[in-house]
Amino acid sequence: MEGRMALITGASSGIGAATARWLARQGMRVVLTARRQDRLEALAQEIRAQGGAALAIPADLNHFSDREALVRRIEDTWGPVEVLINNAGFGYYGTVEETPWEVIEGMFTVNILAMIHLVQLVLPGMRRLGRGHIINVASVAGYISTPPLTVYSATKFAVVGFSEGLRRELEPHGIHVTVISPGPVRTEFGQVASGLAVDPGEVPGGLDPEAIARAIARALRRPRREIVVPALYLPAIWINRALPGLVDWGAARQGRAWLRHLEKARGGKGA
Ligand SMILES: NC(=O)c1ccc[n+]([C@@H]2O[C@H](COP(=O)([O-])OP(=O)(O)OC[C@H]3O[C@@H](n4cnc5c(N)ncnc54)[C@H](OP(=O)(O)O)[C@@H]3O)[C@@H](O)[C@H]2O)c1
Repeated sequence: MEGRMALITGASSGIGAATARWLARQGMRVVLTARRQDRLEALAQEIRAQGGAALAIPADLNHFSDREALVRRIEDTWGPVEVLINNAGFGYYGTVEETPWEVIEGMFTVNILAMIHLVQLVLPGMRRLGRGHIINVASVAGYISTPPLTVYSATKFAVVGFSEGLRRELEPHGIHVTVISPGPVRTEFGQVASGLAVDPGEVPGGLDPEAIARAIARALRRPRREIVVPALYLPAIWINRALPGLVDWGAARQGRAWLRHLEKARGGKGA
């Protein structure tokens, strides 16, 4: 790990920030990106104060030009990106019917289109180096679609599918691809998805983001194709494939209950 360089998207909070801290502690040089510059600068300073190497480059991954400028700046400063951790992403709690179109477009842009574009941008550098590792953060929702996260799930199904094909494309070039799918993690995800200060859909027993950071570090040491954290979601993914009718029944009920709860928290008609 010592001296390797990683670009981590979505490093201003949650899984991305925990991963940056964890990898920097292992001696990796980390490039932090997200929109909130103050958070990135504070984290970069914290890492440097502990003897690590960190570069904070703010970027809005919604914008093509920001993505291009980000990779150009890294290459000018530290050379080609050796490890890309595509972690930035967000969800939205709502039915397909009610989700505003601009939210749907934004989710697809950040969660999957920006990921594909960043891969395109870093690949020439990885090819020159003759090595690289791309880690894409999907979700258990990328295997089991559960309302009211249907559109978010669609973006994560795309992440899983993209990672599978990319892995097969890049394998002959010595570039590893790993897709990591967390279950519920205690981050700002639910606040963003609900638009509320406290996530009304928070799942008790959600993982600490450090658990995902540790799994990412392990995958960098020993490359893996797919990781589900925690592994107890693996049987659920299998049951969803084998007995979809059973899961339909449970997921539909759970989705309706979740929406009622959300309406209440928003002070709307469920209150
Ligand atoms: N938390 C969970 O339960 C869970 C479960 C499975 C998968 N995941 C996935 O894990 C990843 C990290 O999420 P998290 O849980 O750590 O949530 P989080 O704390 O809300 O972090 C999301 C990160 O994405 C960044 N981001 C969002 N929109 C962006 C944009 N337009 N441009 C640049 N950066 C943007 C945010 O930074 P700025 O706001 O500063 O731009 C933030 O750093 C996501 O892909 C999420 O889908 C989360």
